[in-house]
Amino acid sequence: MAKQSTAPAKTPPGPPGYLFFTEQEAMRNQLPLYTSVFERYGDFVKLDGLPGISWYLVARPSAIEHILVTHQNRYRKPDVFNKTLRLLVGNGLIVNEGDSWLSQRRLMQPAFHKERLANLAKSMIDSTKQLIEQWQQLDDDSEIDIAAEMSNLTLTIAGKTLFGLDLSDKAEMFGASLRQALSHVSKKMNNPFTFPEWLPTEENKQFKNARNNLFQVVDEIIAHRRKAAGDRGDLLSMLMAAQDEASGAQMSDAQLRDEVITLLVAGHDTVAATLAWVYFLLGSNTAAQTRLQAELQSELQTELQGAQQEEREAQAAPEHCGQVSLADLPKLTYTRAVIDEALRLYPPAWGQPREAIEDDQIDGYFVPKGRIIAVSQYLAQRHPDHWNQPLEFHPERFLAGDSLAKERPKFSYFPFGGGSRMCIGNNFAMMEAQIVVALISQSFTIALVGNQDIKPDPTFTLRPDRPVQVKLQKRK
Ligand code: HEM
Repeated sequence: MAKQSTAPAKTPPGPPGYLFFTEQEAMRNQLPLYTSVFERYGDFVKLDGLPGISWYLVARPSAIEHILVTHQNRYRKPDVFNKTLRLLVGNGLIVNEGDSWLSQRRLMQPAFHKERLANLAKSMIDSTKQLIEQWQQLDDDSEIDIAAEMSNLTLTIAGKTLFGLDLSDKAEMFGASLRQALSHVSKKMNNPFTFPEWLPTEENKQFKNARNNLFQVVDEIIAHRRKAAGDRGDLLSMLMAAQDEASGAQMSDAQLRDEVITLLVAGHDTVAATLAWVYFLLGSNTAAQTRLQAELQSELQTELQGAQQEEREAQAAPEHCGQVSLADLPKLTYTRAVIDEALRLYPPAWGQPREAIEDDQIDGYFVPKGRIIAVSQYLAQRHPDHWNQPLEFHPERFLAGDSLAKERPKFSYFPFGGGSRMCIGNNFAMMEAQIVVALISQSFTIALVGNQDIKPDPTFTLRPDRPVQVKLQKRK
């Protein structure tokens, strides 16, 4: 056992009884349960599901850093998580382990370097402008479901930027199938009593249908590229050209499909949820939206010189869609703060499970080998010890000069995870979100319609639990 202190290690506190009996309803939506356990028992707790099934829930930054970074070699992604997610993503990067994970990660990492990402900005800008053009045709004050619109937009962007393919006509079908498949996977992860996959239950059949829809899209992407060979410099070209160092073998279509679907799953729904939350929050916070628009006006709607002007002029859609270029993004500090704050309150990846592969001790608590530990962004990022008015939307806390920022421990804010399994697409996601918000908010003011009782749905990605109806008000 790891020796960290001479005091005997304790068991973390937690609610009495077995949750599968005492909290049946809450086990279906863990957020309220986890929030109330956190409020009652603290940021490091033990939960007992059933006799023999226990896990720890951690929202304490020092413990999260221990698990994800400083002692990450004592933890792995649990089998129950990997096994169920594999139903959808095969052996894609997110569930891969050991040497195979390392070699795939090394292979894919260069595609996400900042210099490579710079080439993708134009696609992101053009796709967003096309959507804005469509919205411009609607009457003023038209109502739309911004969550669905953002889901379609981010899928279109992911298809184009990662795989060079226009998926816009399939976006709705793909989004619906993805949600169905993820809801099935999530249910299986959180409930030990589901039917085996081979039983032809209605739910299993629906999952298989949804998965087939997704596979069809992905197989089309791969077949399309196999026909039009040649390096396009995008991620798919890199994956297809990659060779195993020892055998020289290239990835089979099945392996490629695993990575492509992983990237579509991990890279589209997360950004879609982020953008939906951004507009949910801005839609009911006039002061923040006004400040955001003032920043866009002062930073973007000015005459530019030289290369920056040329970059803007090369953009496909006309001037009235607003303008932004990659070089503008660092200046948009408030826009970035709005996105950071939405990711704090509603982190799309709201918690990650790990399994101890050896006995360990964290902050005086004993962690037996085999114990599942869930670290939670959702709870840590609302932790009252580290955030003032933690439940309120204050983008200002992410601006330079916020006095509390320096005191905050690192893992009080980690929407993209940490350690070697940290999100490979974090820069991609932030660039995309900033571009989309900068363009949309130059053209429209977004107002939330009426009193909608929107809550976060933790089924896999933390997204709004219902359509987010907003009014689009055209800006002059
Ligand atoms: C706001 C958007 C996003 C959020 C909040 C997010 C969050 C995360 C988190 C927390 C992890 C770590 C999971 C763990 O440790 O168990 C992760 C992993 C991953 N993310 Fe993201 N992500 C986002 C966008 C993206 C994008 C745009 C892509 C790709 C285009 C992507 C691809 C991946 C992949 C492949 C992994 C697995 C990495 C590995 O295990 O080596 N993500 N993401």
